[in-house]
Amino acid sequence: MLRNPGDHSTDASWELYDVACQVIPMGSQTHSKVPREELRGIEPCYLERGQGCRVWDVDGNEYIDFRAGLGPITLGYAYPAVVEAVKEQAEKGFVYSYAHPLEVTVAQDLVEIIPCAEEVRFLKTGGEAMSAVHRIARAHTKRDMILTCGYHGWLNVMDRAGVPDAIRSVYEAHPWGDAAAFEDALSRHEGNVAAISVACDYAGIDQAETFLGDLRRLCDANGCVLIYDEIVTGFRLRRGGAQELFGVIPDLAVFAKGMSNGVPLSCYAGKREIMETVRDVVISSTFGGDTLGLAAARAVIGVYQTEDVIGRLWDRGKQLHDGVGEIASRLDIEAGFEGYPPVGIFSFRSGDSPRDADNYSRLCGEMFKRGILLYTVCYPNYSHETEDIDIALSAFDDALTRMKAEGYFSGVSS
Ligand SMILES: Cc1ncc(COP(=O)(O)O)c(C=O)c1O
Repeated sequence: MLRNPGDHSTDASWELYDVACQVIPMGSQTHSKVPREELRGIEPCYLERGQGCRVWDVDGNEYIDFRAGLGPITLGYAYPAVVEAVKEQAEKGFVYSYAHPLEVTVAQDLVEIIPCAEEVRFLKTGGEAMSAVHRIARAHTKRDMILTCGYHGWLNVMDRAGVPDAIRSVYEAHPWGDAAAFEDALSRHEGNVAAISVACDYAGIDQAETFLGDLRRLCDANGCVLIYDEIVTGFRLRRGGAQELFGVIPDLAVFAKGMSNGVPLSCYAGKREIMETVRDVVISSTFGGDTLGLAAARAVIGVYQTEDVIGRLWDRGKQLHDGVGEIASRLDIEAGFEGYPPVGIFSFRSGDSPRDADNYSRLCGEMFKRGILLYTVCYPNYSHETEDIDIALSAFDDALTRMKAEGYFSGVSS
C-alpha cells in the first residue's frame, strides 16, 4: 500500500545525525551514506532493521529498499539461510590462529563459479582486494603502470588529497568504452603497463562485450594483465559476473558485495601462474580468513545453486525499468532507467545536468515520503516480489505526477 506522504517524518534520524557530526567527520563512514542537507527531515539517515526487501529507520518508517546496503544485499536483508549459517559459525568462534576449513570449501566453490579462477584468496573489502591485484600484476609483470576504468574503492582513488605525485603517476584513468584511449596509453607507456583494471559502467553496459574484447586483445598484444572489478557485477549479472555474461575472460578478478549478502568478505581470483606471485608480495591480513564472511558466502552460494536468484534479479529489475519507462512516457517526462535490470541507473535526461540532479534529489525525497528507498543504482534483490515492484511503480507515478504539476519539468519535456 502506498504511504501517505503527509505522515512522513525523519526527525529522530536528523537529530542523531547532528550528534554524529560532533564525533564523526561527515557523520558517516561511507560517502554515499551521508544524507543530503536539502532533504533534511525527509531522508532517513539511520536504518536500524531490515527484512527481505524492506528496511525500517529510527523514526519507525518502513521502506521498500532499492539501495541494497549500497550493493551487497542480493538475497534480502536478514535472509534466513545466511543468518543461520552466521549464527552457527559464531557459536564456534570467528577467527583462529590457523586457517579454517571454510577457506578451502569456499575457494573450491568460487573456482567452480568464476570463469577466470584457478586460485582464490580472501580479504574483507572490495577496495583492498583491488589494491592486492594491482600489486600482484606489478610483481608478475615487473612493470609499474596501472590503467584503470571506473571506481575501484577508496584505496585506489588517486585524484584526491593525500596521494603523493609519485604514486599518482603510476595510475592513469580512462573512460569506459574508449579502447582507443587505452591503446594510446599503452603506446605512451610502452613496456611499462602492468595491467588494465576495469569495472563495468552500468549505464553503458551494452558496450561491454565489444569493449572488454578490445581490452583483452590489447592486454594480450602488450603482455599486460587484464583485471575485472566484479565487486558489483559478481553474483548479480551472473554468479560469475560480467566475465560469465559476456564471455570475455580476464586474468584476475575481484568479487565482494553480493557474494556474502552483506557480511564483509572479498576475494581476488585468477590464473594460477599470476596468483602464485602472491608468494613474493606481502598480502596478509588478520581477518582475511574470518569465518563469518565465509560462512555467509557458503550459504549464499547454496541458495544460488538451488534457486534462480539471477533470473529473479533480472525479472524484477525489468519490471521496474519497463514500468518507469511507461510512466515517464505517459507523463511526457525525459527520464528512465539505463543499463541492465540488476544494476539499472535512473536518470532524468533533459540535457541540463544541474537541473536533472536537482530533480533527482527531489524525486528521492518524494519517494522516501512514499516509503521507497532509491539510490543512483537501483538494486533489486531476490526478496522483492512483483507486488513490491508494483508498489514502487505507484510511488514513481504519484511522485512524478506531483513534480510535474509543480512545474519541475516545464520547458524540458519532449
Ligand atoms: C565497482 C566497485 N569497486 C570497488 C568498490 C569498493 O569496495 P569496498 O567499498 O568494499 O572497498 C566499490 C564500492 O562501492 C564498487 O562499487
